[in-house]
Amino acid sequence: MITESAQQTQAFAEEYAKTLKKGDVVLLRGEMGAGKTEFVKGLAKGLGIEDEITSPTYAYMNDYDGKLYHYDCYRLKSGAQAEALGLCDYFYADGICVIEWAENIEDVLPENCKTVKIRKLDANRREILSE
Ligand SMILES: Nc1ncnc2c1ncn2[C@@H]1O[C@H](COP(=O)(O)OP(=O)(O)OP(=O)(O)O)[C@@H](O)[C@H]1O
Ligand SMILES: [Mg+2]
Repeated sequence: MITESAQQTQAFAEEYAKTLKKGDVVLLRGEMGAGKTEFVKGLAKGLGIEDEITSPTYAYMNDYDGKLYHYDCYRLKSGAQAEALGLCDYFYADGICVIEWAENIEDVLPENCKTVKIRKLDANRREILSE
């Protein structure tokens, strides 16, 4: 899938949300500015969440009513740190977890995560692969 704007990435994510089941954990791979947070905005919309989605960079995780847990692990140093902060419990809850920078906590991720890779092609074009 190639998108040509943040809006198109959100629209794709909104559709992708329909493929998810309760308790799914989605890893969002992609460099800084790839569009991971834009993807989460669409995902939330697709899950019927009306709150504004903001980047949880400082809080590590934002909880949208137990329906969606949005992680940004950029500033986490290890899986052990995530564990100590109690961030891992939600991986086994009923809501959907979506995780940016999951590579920083790789050793505490559950099995059977879904992955979405977003690659910058140029200023406004992104390639999105989901597996
Ligand atoms: N096709 C596109 N899809 C998504 N975002 C796009 C696209 N084209 C341009 N953009 C812009 O790229 C930026 C993506 O920012 P976003 O915060 O979603 O990135 P991120 O991957 O979450 O980065 P970080 O790792 O810093 O959290 C936004 O400014 C958005 O408007
Ligand atoms: Mg982000």
